[in-house]
Amino acid sequence: MADHPNIVILTGAGVSAESGLATFRGPDGLWEGHRVEDVCTPEALARDEALVQRFYDERREKLASVEPNAAHRALARLDAEWKSGLLLVTQNVDDLHERAGSKRLIHMHGELRSALCRACSARSPFAGADMGEGLACPECGAAGRLRPDIVFFGEMPYDMEAIDRALMEADLFVSVGTSGNVYPAAGFVQTARYCGAHTLEMNLEPSLGSTLFHESRGGPAGELVPAWVEEMLADLG
Ligand code: OAD
Repeated sequence: MADHPNIVILTGAGVSAESGLATFRGPDGLWEGHRVEDVCTPEALARDEALVQRFYDERREKLASVEPNAAHRALARLDAEWKSGLLLVTQNVDDLHERAGSKRLIHMHGELRSALCRACSARSPFAGADMGEGLACPECGAAGRLRPDIVFFGEMPYDMEAIDRALMEADLFVSVGTSGNVYPAAGFVQTARYCGAHTLEMNLEPSLGSTLFHESRGGPAGELVPAWVEEMLADLG
């Protein structure tokens, strides 16, 4: 590997599980209690906006009661101390990475604490409880046009150009706590590997694409990630 490796880290719901946020798939997962088609598609929003807004209002409320865990904190420390390229790409819509202190961060699937205006396409911070109450867009003033700033199935994730560029320049690609069910994120390992990166997966259980990685570590993110960050920073020193 290069002397000053460029790192891309992809995180999924598993990184926030030990903070108390439900993952999507598997027993007790969010997609066990709700059908994706009912709450996470543009068609669902058009059909039953109240249901969609309530789903994300509840998740936003839950966010207020949880804190970053050891994995979020370790990744923020790596971001602060790593002098060469580093990009943390999260599929998570919670704000636990930034609350832990991560700066070089992309929320490719949007953010719970952000609103997207269907009238002017502006994205604005949203700290309120209920988004579906006819609120006005802070940018254009249109009333009742704010929707959750979540990338629904069938929509384009955010910042794909920057992510692709970072993947192509990566010397090391690390995936933490994602099941590998959802594209394009599930394909990042192939892009990075094809372009020469070493690839490492950390997960409680092997993901769908685990055989694509050079190296896999099994266990909870709250233990694996701090240990890996220690290794990276020790190599540096
Ligand atoms: P999933 O729920 O599909 O997968 C969670 C992964 O986390 C699984 O592979 C678990 O084994 C792993 N896991 C659980 N607890 C863990 C822990 N303590 N430490 C480490 N790993 C753990 O969640 P994602 O892969 O993030 O998209 O799902 C991807 C996308 O599907 C989400 O961003 C969401 C969803 O539909 C949208 O809503 C647009």
